[in-house]
This record gives sequence, structure tokens and C-alpha cells, in this order.
Amino acid sequence: MTKAIHLWSLDVVASEELTVKELKETQLWGCGGVIYLLQTVLKNSEYPQLWVVTRGAQPVLSDKEKLAVAATPLWGLGRVVSLEHPQLWGGLVDLDPQKTEQEVEMLLQLLVNSSEEDHLALRGEQTYVARLVKQSASEFAQPVSLSSDRTYLITGGLGALGLHTAQWLVEKGARHLVLIGRSQPSPKKQAAINHLKQQGVEVIVAQADVCHVEELEKLFEQIDSSMTPLKGIVHAAGVGGYQPIQQIELTEFKRVIAPKVVGGWILHQLTQDRELDFFINFSSIAAVWGSGLTANYAAANHFLDGLAHYRQAIGLPSFSINWGPWAGGGMASDEELRELSKRGVDSLSPTQGIAALERLLVSSKTQTVVADINWSLFKQLYQTGKRRLLLEEIVVETTETQLKEENAETDSNGILMQLKAVSNNEKPKILMAHLQAEVARVLGITTSEIDVEQNLSMMGVDSLMVVELRSRFQSQLKVDIPISKLTEEFTIAALSTEILSTLTTPVMFADYIGDTHQYNLV
Ligand SMILES: NC(=O)c1ccc[n+]([C@@H]2O[C@H](COP(=O)([O-])OP(=O)(O)OC[C@H]3O[C@@H](n4cnc5c(N)ncnc54)[C@H](OP(=O)(O)O)[C@@H]3O)[C@@H](O)[C@H]2O)c1
Repeated sequence: MTKAIHLWSLDVVASEELTVKELKETQLWGCGGVIYLLQTVLKNSEYPQLWVVTRGAQPVLSDKEKLAVAATPLWGLGRVVSLEHPQLWGGLVDLDPQKTEQEVEMLLQLLVNSSEEDHLALRGEQTYVARLVKQSASEFAQPVSLSSDRTYLITGGLGALGLHTAQWLVEKGARHLVLIGRSQPSPKKQAAINHLKQQGVEVIVAQADVCHVEELEKLFEQIDSSMTPLKGIVHAAGVGGYQPIQQIELTEFKRVIAPKVVGGWILHQLTQDRELDFFINFSSIAAVWGSGLTANYAAANHFLDGLAHYRQAIGLPSFSINWGPWAGGGMASDEELRELSKRGVDSLSPTQGIAALERLLVSSKTQTVVADINWSLFKQLYQTGKRRLLLEEIVVETTETQLKEENAETDSNGILMQLKAVSNNEKPKILMAHLQAEVARVLGITTSEIDVEQNLSMMGVDSLMVVELRSRFQSQLKVDIPISKLTEEFTIAALSTEILSTLTTPVMFADYIGDTHQYNLV
């Protein structure tokens, strides 16, 4: 046997009619079937090349494609199989949601003439491949303001990211929160909740399991009867777990996928008739490009990506964020963060994560990776032993280019590097001194003559100097300060605060914010 083709997920129930029971069953013969197949073939010394085929499980042409959400976890799982067992990995093929006459022939051609492409989709007579693409972060910046007379619900609200999100919602104006978790809050978490309450916020801590429909129904009844209208959901409940595919048991598979797959679908079903402002899914980079030992987790997270696309297609708000690891507590332990960093996956600080979340809330993106990746290191390691075309569009600078850039930065005092190297507390002082020197330079005076609290225009900074300053800040600090701001009553101190707030968003520190599913024609 040279090839094994998994077709069991072609007949999943259409998302519009999918019940929770059917969704759970589908996972057993979908992902469960692939895991069992792998565990069986891996016992032999020779094994067939494995291909996994789905139908309508990837958003290829537009967000209007109603995804077959029940089959989406297979794509997350497949990405991990490809990393753990590259020797037997063939690829993933997503067939056209509408059966076409030529699809069998096209599929066979793909499998027989298999190339290095392993993320493929057929739509009509065309074959598409998936490419991760960089996304400019500039289009995301818009102010966020939330309503004080609406209720916002966070599943996994007592987790690390959940509590950061709660604090951010409050900073943006929310005054009614529901935080869901199965356990009682620890004293530390209770202190964080108390802190929210002290800011005048109504916080309901609901002990509920997102996988139990009755518990959520009861909670929604309680919200409807005693709180302001529910208008936003952040689905951050999740559990981790590391296991090689050969050792995965069904109970562990069910445990890991439950909060994201079952919980996500229940939340969708229970709220689809409500007018929500947002429905945000906390997913993971593991769902986008895989990560060793996380087959269950990657499958679970890719369901959330699919759910976001499906909701968009049927006119409901939703987006999914494929987070890289966060520092400062949470699912990823310090040791895991250190290990990931050695492989080029650095962690986001909570400030960076929240800044990205805020930007995405006002963007129109359905799925976005937010991660701090050292691409030259990560891409090299990711492709050890196998070229992986998913990352083909991520251009990694050569060492020579990097050196040039570093020298260029050093020429302008390496201010970005200096800022990167110091703690947040030290940044304002360093940046302020730099801005002082820059303004002194264009004015032709000494730094000691500059008063950081005086307006730039009062100091004598004219419009030509403003243009020069703006251009220097663009090249040195990679920030674009509008001319209007520099000519208005801006002091150096205010300018420093403005620039620092821009720098602490992932635009600056995370090398990548991207769409995950740009399909380019082969
Ligand atoms: N931290 C990271 O670096 C990172 C990176 C990528 C993605 N993410 C995703 O972001 C989310 C939050 O991560 P985190 O680091 O904050 O994790 P965390 O601290 O472990 O929080 C997760 C929370 O989910 C709750 N939960 C789990 N199963 C549940 C269920 N069935 N019903 C209700 N609540 C449930 C847990 O509380 P109980 O156990 O008490 O129920 C826990 O408080 C997760 O979905 C994770 O996959 C995190």
C-alpha cells in the first residue's frame, strides 16, 4: 500500500443542521479515525503516505463560503501530523463545497502527482494552495469604546488571558461582566475580580462548564433576567496537553477538544439569534502551522477558526485570533516559553496581546495570527528535513540584510534596539532623551536648552522642521506621527507618551500579524 486517503469526513452534517451530538460523533470518526489509522500504520516498518480530504472546510475564495465546521479540526490535526511524521505525510485537500464532475479526477491527479504542496483546495476547475501572508498592522488602528449598559461574557474568564481581557474591557468602558470557569477563583484571581469590582463593575463569576448546554442555558436566562443585554462574547476557555500522536487516547482527545469544539458550538447555537457586537475566539498558532505534540489542541483550535469563518458567512460577527504564547502566566509555563523562544517563537507581553486584541476588534479580519516570531530562526527549524510551502511568502532577511539594518539603526543611535533591550519602566526616560536630542538637532541648539514640557511650536519648530522630524521618527522608530499632531500643541513629553503607546503594540514587537488563509492560485 503506497497511499492512504482519509475520506470519512466528506459526509459531515452541514453546519446549519449540525447538532452538538453529531459534532461530537464526527470528531470521533474524523480526527479520531486519522489518529487510529496513524497509530496502526506506524506499528509497521513501512507505511503509506497519508492524505486527508475534507469538503468545504477551508475559507478559500471568500468569507461567504459556509464552512463545514465539523470537518475543520482535521486541518489542525493534519498540520501536527505533518510535523511529527513528515515521512508519511501527504497533505490536506479541501474539495469544493459544491460537488463538481471533475473533482474525483482532479483529486486523483493531485495524489498521483503529489508535489511539495500539502495545503490544497479545489474550487471549480482550479486548484488553490494556502500561504501564510504578512499583514500590515497600520490599517487596524481605530479607537475602541464599549458600552456601559451591555453585558460582556468571557469563557475561561478566570484564566490568565481571560482576566487580562476583562480588565481591558473595563478600561474600554464595560461595566457588566460575566466570567465563566468550572472552578472557584483562587485567592489571587479573587483579588483581580475585586479590583474590577472596585472600578464600579458588576462582575458575575459563573461556575459553569461550556460543554454543558443546560448550564449555559441557565446562565443566559440569569443574564437576561437580571443584567443588561448580552452583547459580546470572548471564548477563551481551553485546556492544553502534550502527547505524541502514537500515545493519544480517546479520553484525552475528548478532554482537549471539548471546551473549544463542543463549547464553541454550544455558545454559537445559544447566541445565534442574539444581536451581538462581537464573538471572539481565542485560538492558537498551533492551529495554523502545527506544533509538535499538540494534535488534539491544534484540532480544537482550528475548529474555532472555522467557527469564526462560518459565523461571518452567515452574517454573524466573529473573529478568531491565533495567539502565539503569552508571557506572564496562563497556559504556557515559563519553561515552555523558554523552549519556544529557542525555536524562534517568542512570547507576547500581556500589553502587546491586549493592544493587538483592541486593534482586531475594530478591524474586519476574520482570522489573524498574533505572534512574536523570529522568522529567520523559526522558518529554518520548521523546514528541517522538509520544505514547507505554507511559509513560502514569509520572506526572511538574509544575515547580510539584517546586519545592514542593524548598522543603520546604530547610526541613528539604535534607539529601537535600545528600547527593545530595556524594561518598560526605563523606556520613557530613554525615548524622551532621544526626542530631546532630535528636536535640539533640528533647532540647532543644545539638548540642555530643550524643555520637554514646552510646545514644539513655542520652541521654534516650524513646518519644515516638522516634516524632517516626522521623517526621522519614521525611519528611526518605525512610527508615523501625523503632521497635524506635531504642529498642534505637542510637547516632547506628550510625543514620547504617544510614541511609546504605538511601540507597545505588536506592530513593533511582533514581527507578524497576518491572515492565515490566503489561497493563491497554483
Ligand atoms: N496563554 C497562551 O500563551 C495562549 C496561547 C495561545 C492560545 N491561548 C488560548 O487562550 C485561551 C486562554 O489561555 P490562558 O493561557 O488564559 O489559559 P488558562 O489560564 O489555563 O485559562 C483557561 C481557562 O479556561 C477555563 N476552562 C477550561 N475548560 C473549561 C470549560 N469546559 N468550561 C469553562 N471554563 C473552562 C479554565 O478554568 P477551569 O479549569 O476552572 O474551568 C481556565 O480558567 C485558551 O483558549 C488558550 O488555548 C493561550
